[in-house]
Amino acid sequence: MTYKKHYSVLNKEVVDILNENCEQLDNINFADMTFGAGGHTFALAGKNENIKVYSVDQDPDALKNGRSHIEELGLTERVFLNDMNFEEFPDFIKENHPNLKFNGIVADLGVSSHHFDQGERGFSFRFDAPLDMRMDADNDELETAAYIVNNYSKEDLENIFFRYGEEKFSHRIVRSILEKREIAPIETTKQLEQLIINCYPKKLQFGKINPATKCFQALRIKVNKELDVLERVIPGLIDLLDINGRLAIITFHSLEDRIVKNLFKDAVQGEIPYELYSKKPIVPSHGELEENPRSRSAKLRVICKIKEKKSKNKYAHFSKIGENR
Ligand SMILES: C[S@@+](CC[C@H](N)C(=O)[O-])C[C@H]1O[C@@H](n2cnc3c(N)ncnc32)[C@H](O)[C@@H]1O
Repeated sequence: MTYKKHYSVLNKEVVDILNENCEQLDNINFADMTFGAGGHTFALAGKNENIKVYSVDQDPDALKNGRSHIEELGLTERVFLNDMNFEEFPDFIKENHPNLKFNGIVADLGVSSHHFDQGERGFSFRFDAPLDMRMDADNDELETAAYIVNNYSKEDLENIFFRYGEEKFSHRIVRSILEKREIAPIETTKQLEQLIINCYPKKLQFGKINPATKCFQALRIKVNKELDVLERVIPGLIDLLDINGRLAIITFHSLEDRIVKNLFKDAVQGEIPYELYSKKPIVPSHGELEENPRSRSAKLRVICKIKEKKSKNKYAHFSKIGENR
């Protein structure tokens, strides 16, 4: 298995923001909830030798590839890669390192380019493969996309496609799925792609964006319980921050962004003092978008733990990195 290349979205912004308050510190602890190809982890660890990074991924390919890279780079004493769903991370730290607090935590949500480019994982309709879509591919307790498509009720499928994919032809697509699966199960990416294309009006079938894109995104979110996990983990991650520590979360669609925005707002309004790094999310620069068009929907939000509540200026760095672009 070769791990496919992954462009590390908003990497410079994340590294700069998380390091901003750390220059005077002798021991710096960062965490990366979404190791992937290690772009953020290695950039953080590379800043200086006092930095330790506790990283997490649930994908067997990312873990295998990551462990060999960590060794090759001689970072085994400073970069620790854990096999888990990031939902488990706050409890893992509390149980195993009860005194550990973090100066910075990053989560770069969703799947990596590796998932899309590794045809047999079933994330992409560019390749014909079983409809799987589990990031944690060894976890037999997770329902695969094929299971969902072939077993969920009409209402549940419509809800998934409409809510997670904002697919306006959900009704038609689900009707067609129900008809097809009466005859034989829908088992592959190409079968589902073709079924969805056929449900689109002729003039929209061959546009710039493949009609199957939204339903595939919706199924992936459902299979990996992405929104539920995100909602559950954010309070726990915020709780792991040291004073002046920052949690940076990169999202790729409005459903994720709304969860981050609301939970950060709740934290700022709570008893413990936190502030937002900036009011608006930070977005990729023009340069990044030219290098990596897949960054176009990325939004970075950052929350900071502070010593005490400030009365007026709620935004720590309103016009600093990434604003006003
Ligand atoms: C967008 S990629 C991260 C890329 C990484 N930041 C880089 O620069 O290479 C997301 C990674 O997070 C992992 N992931 C997503 N959700 C996860 C979760 N709930 N728990 C653990 N890992 C997760 C995926 O398997 C994938 O490898």
